[in-house]
Amino acid sequence: MSKKILVTGGTGYIGSHTVVELQDSGFDVVVVDNLSNSNIEVLDNIDKITGIKPYFENFDLADRKKTHNFFERTSDIGAIIHFAASKAVGESVEKPLLYYGNNLVSLINLLECQVQFQIPHMVFSSSCTVYGQPEKLPVTEETPRKDAESPYGNTKRVNEDIMRDTIAAHPQLRGIALRYFNPVGAHASALIGELPLGVPQNLVPFITQTAAGLRDELKVFGDDYNTPDGSAVRDYINVVDLAKAHVVAIERLLGGKNKENFEIFNLGTGRGVSVLEMVKGFEKATGVKVNYKIVGRRQGDIEKIWADTSYANSELGWKAEKGLEETLLSAWEWEKRVRGKM
Ligand code: NAD
Ligand code: WQD
Repeated sequence: MSKKILVTGGTGYIGSHTVVELQDSGFDVVVVDNLSNSNIEVLDNIDKITGIKPYFENFDLADRKKTHNFFERTSDIGAIIHFAASKAVGESVEKPLLYYGNNLVSLINLLECQVQFQIPHMVFSSSCTVYGQPEKLPVTEETPRKDAESPYGNTKRVNEDIMRDTIAAHPQLRGIALRYFNPVGAHASALIGELPLGVPQNLVPFITQTAAGLRDELKVFGDDYNTPDGSAVRDYINVVDLAKAHVVAIERLLGGKNKENFEIFNLGTGRGVSVLEMVKGFEKATGVKVNYKIVGRRQGDIEKIWADTSYANSELGWKAEKGLEETLLSAWEWEKRVRGKM
């Protein structure tokens, strides 16, 4: 069984951390990314961490011809981890065709190549966004999916369906969809991390940029939710813990340990944390104050969600290990390095 793994979106936030964990576990990694939301320098930083610069190709996976051509030229791929996608929720509302075009077509092209070039295994990046606001918490993999709140969210739901149907029609294929909760933090080396373009939409990059003085204040969206302190609750998972789950998922597929041809796992910590707890946690971990103001709710936000991780714990033998303060400190160390302050 080939230990050569194609990582699409491997210079991105979660992909780069996963490349590090794969290489540290002895896998041979090939990265494809069109650099639409990442930098080529990430490869040098992966090299600094692991001692290996992964083989890299820059092309658009939504381009059918280029994708097929890549597989024609590249032999011996044992499995694919498919991270490459557009991921900005707000932008997807403005540009739905860009999101459907990129996220659906890239997956379809890869599945076609899996069939044609006999590459049985794929791990796909899904999201807790498929649950919307669930009736019952925490959410298990059996919790019904809801109509998506955004075109981005819908691409995750439809991509899960495309994967399930394709695997059902081609019994030689095996797939795992991982539903991430809220990935945060950075590698302990501070050499790789999240690099939002422009004004960050996500909470942790906004906190770190505010602490670094790039933003005047963090707007806390809502303090009138039905939660212990009134601010919204999420399950924030350390990106390195998340990356490690991908190695386990790949080993499960390559080792033939999967129970069904298409499997789904929640990846979270199992703990719900409020926005205000995140701010306090950051201040405690770093000793740096975050200037914040409570404002109205953000449109489309859900009130609370966190994962039931027992299926991933028992079936994958994987568990999130890093504490919240360690994670928030890692996000701060990364922010300082990006700003040239360390
Ligand atoms: P990211 O933007 O940092 O990484 C995605 C990478 O894919 C980028 O480097 C981008 O340049 C590349 N890419 C995009 N479209 C491409 C294409 N057509 N061809 C080649 N490369 C392409 O995002 P991330 O946070 O690392 O997310 C990775 C995956 O996880 C995505 O599928 C995302 O939807 C999913 N996800 C992310 C989160 C999150 O909060 N970060 C949560 C749940 C799921
Ligand atoms: C977290 C909490 C905000 C910014 C989004 C996508 C989802 C998933 C992850 C991929 C919320 C609050 C935020 C700010 C704030 N991505 N907040 N002030 O909304 O849970 O999920 O990213 O699949 O699909 O929707 O994450 O980090 O944006 O927000 O108060 O400036 O922080 O209201 O309660 P979210 P987030």
